[in-house]
Amino acid sequence: MAYENIIYETEGNIGIIRFNRPKALNAINSDVVRDVQKALDEVEADSSLRVLILTGEGGKAFVAGADISLMVNLTPLQLREFSSSLHELGFRMEGLSIPIIACVNGFALGGGTEIAMACDFIYASEDAKFGQPEINLGIIPGAGGTQRLPRLVGKGMAKELCMTGAIISAREAKEIGLVNKVFPADKLWEETLKTANVLASKGRFSLMAVKRCIDRGFNLDLRAACGLETDQFALCMASPDGREGMSAFLEKRKPDFKGGLS
Ligand code: CAA
Repeated sequence: MAYENIIYETEGNIGIIRFNRPKALNAINSDVVRDVQKALDEVEADSSLRVLILTGEGGKAFVAGADISLMVNLTPLQLREFSSSLHELGFRMEGLSIPIIACVNGFALGGGTEIAMACDFIYASEDAKFGQPEINLGIIPGAGGTQRLPRLVGKGMAKELCMTGAIISAREAKEIGLVNKVFPADKLWEETLKTANVLASKGRFSLMAVKRCIDRGFNLDLRAACGLETDQFALCMASPDGREGMSAFLEKRKPDFKGGLS
């Protein structure tokens, strides 16, 4: 399916969504949200996919935030609806059955940092920039910034970023634990694909179980979270991959993970 505001393609068992409004530095409006949701429908319908990568077209931005030219004319109720649609997108991404890597190749500001945080982890180019500059617009983050950011980097740092609106480099973002790895711009895509291929070689069910345990467990008390892990651990044996992985080890061969549940 062709999209106006994103490019969706697959490379083997890797899905790729590229934000594609380079003239507006890939700023997100309702049409972008709708396109990404539809692309996620395609991802979910394609059981051959093992990993999804989110990135930006145009060489300058991942996503420079929510579209300010859209928001400036909205009523409070319309802004609320827009914010809810961004939150629904974030939850959908977290609930996706395959891992998502954010490949941040430029500005990831406001909604850009927020979308990246809803991915499973972030790789960035040396020239990437992160931040929650909404305070400079007289508003606050509306796509999870006040919630996912403190969970990733701690309350103090999250407050400092949201209150000052400071834009930080990829290196600083890595230092505070927002970004996993930073690469020279011309190596970012290659390195992201390398890790995507590593993930793609693992069992589909066990990847999903890790994602569920960490995302859902993070907001539970330790006993409930460990209960979630026990259930997911046990469920791994409902997938042929669980038995295949252990058998392969014992037979001293590489596992052949096929995904799916028996
Ligand atoms: N919304 C709408 N348009 C945007 C945009 C945004 N978030 N960010 C950039 N653009 C547009 C600019 O208006 C400009 O358009 P024109 O060429 O038509 O004038 C074009 O993209 C290029 O931008 P600049 O000329 O500003 O490029 P620059 O290199 O000088 O600066 C920048 C780059 C620092 C990223 C700057 O564009 C900027 O500060 N953008 C806004 C960042 C921001 O405040 N993001 C948060 C938005 S609010 C939000 O995201 C709320 C939420 O949580 C949901």
